Amino acid sequence: MTHAVVTGASRGLGLVVSIELARRGWTVFAGARRPADLHPRLAELREQEGESFDIRPVALDVTSDASVRAAVQTIADQTGHIDVVVNNAGVPGTWAAPEDVGPDDFAAVLETNVLGPVRASRAFLPLLRESAQPRLVFVSSGMGSFASQTTDPAFREIAHVPYPASKAALNMIAVQYAKALPDIIVTAVDPGLTATEFTAGSGHSVDEGAAPILAAALNVEGPSGRFLNGAGPAGW
Ligand SMILES: NC(=O)c1ccc[n+]([C@@H]2O[C@H](COP(=O)([O-])OP(=O)(O)OC[C@H]3O[C@@H](n4cnc5c(N)ncnc54)[C@H](OP(=O)(O)O)[C@@H]3O)[C@@H](O)[C@H]2O)c1
Repeated sequence: MTHAVVTGASRGLGLVVSIELARRGWTVFAGARRPADLHPRLAELREQEGESFDIRPVALDVTSDASVRAAVQTIADQTGHIDVVVNNAGVPGTWAAPEDVGPDDFAAVLETNVLGPVRASRAFLPLLRESAQPRLVFVSSGMGSFASQTTDPAFREIAHVPYPASKAALNMIAVQYAKALPDIIVTAVDPGLTATEFTAGSGHSVDEGAAPILAAALNVEGPSGRFLNGAGPAGW
């Protein structure tokens, strides 16, 4: 049985990724700050998909050591291994001109988008190491790619600091984790502009955004240390 943890699974990309993995017969631990909010949707899904459809909501706030520790314990009480951790939880942070963005604005977005995945990945390492094919997925962004930000005309007019900085840091964390953890397939993913609450509905469908995240979660052959988007491997 394949087991995954998805953070930020209450809605948007995290929810769709959780549903798609469960449709493949996986057990998915859906991390959410308010897991009870997921219960009605999951009851509906179980009705549609059948009793074997297995998404289990777990309280998980990636900014809290205590919450992450408790989530690991809750999950460890139910399984001896995790095959995939999808670090998906993220916030856009403050979008404003540099003169209106200070350290507190950076701290808020870095806490969730950078320290959150570090906190969760580290806490789940012992369970990941019990998997025969462990994978760590970091949901990043083209906004965090130096290649896209410096060459892609689509980004020429978009100048924003904290969020891209957080995802650039996340990309480097993925690169270094891939080197430091050769037993784990590590992938950073750019879902592309996707119509969720995050973008107030702009962008392609959530299914399209989820596709490269699913590809990373399903990839058991490697190589490790790649940045993927909907078209395949992308420049960092
Ligand atoms: N949408 C896009 O165009 C786009 C493009 C590139 C990358 N991304 C990345 O994709 C990921 C998912 O984004 P989305 O578009 O699905 O956004 P979304 O609909 O706003 O969902 C964000 C999710 O993150 C959760 N979250 C926020 N802070 C959290 C915390 N401290 N602990 C645990 N969960 C937390 C939210 O939970 P609550 O319900 O508790 O708030 C929600 O489930 C993010 O990392 C984002 O940066 C999105």
